[in-house]
Amino acid sequence: MTPTSATTGAAPAAASPDSYYERHIFFCLNQRENGEDSCANHRAQQGFDRCKAQVKAAGLAGPGQVRVNKAGCLDRCAAGPVAVVYPEAVWYTYVDANDIDEIVESHLKNGQVVERLLTPPHLGR
Ligand code: FES
Repeated sequence: MTPTSATTGAAPAAASPDSYYERHIFFCLNQRENGEDSCANHRAQQGFDRCKAQVKAAGLAGPGQVRVNKAGCLDRCAAGPVAVVYPEAVWYTYVDANDIDEIVESHLKNGQVVERLLTPPHLGR
């Protein structure tokens, strides 16, 4: 495995100058109709809504800054609810609004990975 900022604890690399957004965070909001567990069963919509509101309130939303997006299944359901931040490709597993606020303040605003919320690397679907 190639070391990344998430595994080394170092500050993540800056976005490419050609990148429309500095950072992009995707939230899995998948809801399975067959009764299998999915991120929507673990307050994923609330996490997404909180992140969107906090990014906007902090003045971070928009081109050159941060975009918060909905996503379907990201195939890491066992760790859900999950969100992933690019360009660093840092995966988070969050629980509540405090976790989301920390991701916004630390990573999306200041570029520092929130180590305590990193998704365990072995957890997939
Ligand atoms: S249901 Fe969220 S990662 Fe699969």
